[in-house]
Amino acid sequence: MVDAIKVEGLSYSYSDGTTALEDVNLTISEGEKVVIIGPNGAGKTTFFLHLNGTIKNPQGNVSVFGRPISSMRIEDRIHQVGVVFQDPDDQLFMPTVFDDVAFGPVNMGLDEEEVERRVYVALLKVGLEGFEKRVPHNLSYGQKKRVALASVLSMEPKVLVLDEPTANLDPKSRADFIDLINDLNERDGITTIIAMHDVNALPVLANRVYVLNRRIVAEGSPREIFSDWELLRTNSLEAPDVFKLFKVLNCFGYSSDDLPLSFDEAVQILTKTIEGKEGHIHLHIHEHTHKELSDVIHSYNHHRDKGNIK
Ligand SMILES: Nc1ncnc2c1ncn2[C@@H]1O[C@H](COP(=O)(O)OP(=O)(O)O)[C@@H](O)[C@H]1O
Ligand SMILES: [Mg+2]
Repeated sequence: MVDAIKVEGLSYSYSDGTTALEDVNLTISEGEKVVIIGPNGAGKTTFFLHLNGTIKNPQGNVSVFGRPISSMRIEDRIHQVGVVFQDPDDQLFMPTVFDDVAFGPVNMGLDEEEVERRVYVALLKVGLEGFEKRVPHNLSYGQKKRVALASVLSMEPKVLVLDEPTANLDPKSRADFIDLINDLNERDGITTIIAMHDVNALPVLANRVYVLNRRIVAEGSPREIFSDWELLRTNSLEAPDVFKLFKVLNCFGYSSDDLPLSFDEAVQILTKTIEGKEGHIHLHIHEHTHKELSDVIHSYNHHRDKGNIK
C-alpha cells in the first residue's frame, strides 16, 4: 500500500510557548478514511496546518506520497493535499462563488477552459451547480461549507483533510455532508483525514481512528477505540449513545457478539438476535446487575471525579 501521509517525530510549539504537538508519528495509506479525535486544544487544527504547509516546521517530517512537504512547491502541495477548515468564512474571501472555487486552479496556472471545467465539476460534486454567480457571504452556513469544500476539490487533491466538517450543521445538512465526504472517499478514491467530535458520524467516516492529545495516545478501529472507556474518559471523548445503550442491555443479560456503532447496526443486531431466539429477547435483573450497571454508567460519565455519581 502506498503511504499517502507519513508523519515522523513532529513536535510544535507556538511562539508564546504553548506546546501543541509532541512527537507525533502516524502513517495513512492511500484510499484510507481516518478520523482524528481528541479534546479541545489537543492539537488537531495545528496538525492540519502542517499538512497544507501553513506552518513550516523544521522539527519532524511530514511526507506526502513519499515526498517531504517542506521540499514541495506550493502548486504541487495543494494538488496533493486539500484542507477544509472548520469555519468556511476563513476559506471564502472572493466576491462570487465562482471566484472562490476558481481561485486554486487559477493560481495553479491552468487555462480558462480548464478552470471553468473544474469549477463546474466541483460545484456539481457538492450539489451547488448553478451557484457560480452567488455571493459567498450571503449563503447559508451549510452552503458555505459546501463552497469551501468545492474550493478545495477544484484543485483535485489526492488527500482531503477536513476540520470538524459536521459541526454546526442541521441534521439534514449534516447527513448530506457525511454522504458527500464518504462518496469522495469510496467513489473517487480520495484519502480522507477528518478531525471531529461527532461520534455518531465517526463510524461512517473512519476505518481507522487516531486519538490525538498533543501526542498520538491511541490508534485502532472505531470499535476498539469506543470500547476503551478509560481512554475515552481521560481524553474527554465519548462513545455513540447506541453503543452505550447496548452496554447497558448487556448488563440486563442481553448478549450480542458485537456492540453497534450506529442506529442501523443496532437494528440489524437486534433483528438477528430476535430471529435466532424464536422471536424473544430475554432480559433479567439479578443481584449483580445493579453493580454492572453502575460500573457501565460510571465508566462513561465525565463527571465522576466530581462525585456526582451516587
Ligand atoms: N495561534 C496560536 N498561538 C498560540 N497558541 C495556539 C495558537 N493556536 C492554537 N494554540 C494552542 O495550541 C494548542 C492546540 O490547539 P489546536 O490545534 O487549535 O487544537 P484543537 O484543534 O485540537 O482544538 C492549544 O493549547 C491552543 O490553545
Ligand atoms: Mg481545532
